[in-house]
Amino acid sequence: MKKILILFAHPAFQKSLINKTLMEAIKDLKSVTINNLYEKYPDFFMDIPAEQKLLTEHDIIIWHHPFYWYSAPAIIKEWMDLVLQHGFAYGTHGRALEGKWAMSCISTGGRKEVYSAEGKNRYTINEFLAPFIQSANLCRMKNLPPFVVHGSHTLNKDDIKKYAEDYRKVIKMLRDNEIDSEKLNTMEYMNEIIEHNA
Ligand SMILES: Cc1cc2nc3c(=O)[nH]c(=O)nc-3n(C[C@H](O)[C@H](O)[C@H](O)COP(=O)(O)O)c2cc1C
Repeated sequence: MKKILILFAHPAFQKSLINKTLMEAIKDLKSVTINNLYEKYPDFFMDIPAEQKLLTEHDIIIWHHPFYWYSAPAIIKEWMDLVLQHGFAYGTHGRALEGKWAMSCISTGGRKEVYSAEGKNRYTINEFLAPFIQSANLCRMKNLPPFVVHGSHTLNKDDIKKYAEDYRKVIKMLRDNEIDSEKLNTMEYMNEIIEHNA
């Protein structure tokens, strides 16, 4: 079984619908650790050695958050700036993350159509996620496609339930090493693995 670390960030968790539901759907899974950053560090004062230790103890690292200003809530950036140190995460001797997998799980207000060259937001989600993808790459990690929930304000209860079920399935598949690496190269979003396996 792979060990999965969820780096969860929602600055207004009490108002969250989507991410709270997704998180609830996976929190009881064996071999999955939820690291709720805003809950743990309300003052942003991070325990860097503890965060680095968590990273070394897991095989798959997931940044899970709502998409804010085409990126992540601030604490994720703080975590990256402080925890992914030279000599630990990158650089000649910084090999602590080598070979681990990285993935983003995000929800967006915008529908899928607006995330394209022709759409209102002009870029795709994978283009917006370049800083995450390339940071993982610099740390010698392997990237997984993102799990994405689009159009968060238009979803009904059943839609959200389905996304939460799919997220649980994806996390279990990753944990149990059931993902065909050839399929990974063909997918824009991790959500598609569910259809691939249906
Ligand atoms: C500060 C802020 C910035 C946001 N920026 C974006 C954005 O850049 N693109 C987008 O599609 N949605 C954006 N949204 C919408 C959120 O992504 C959406 O409300 C969230 O994914 C819903 O998840 P939740 O129910 O867990 O809060 C933003 C919302 C807030 C509050």
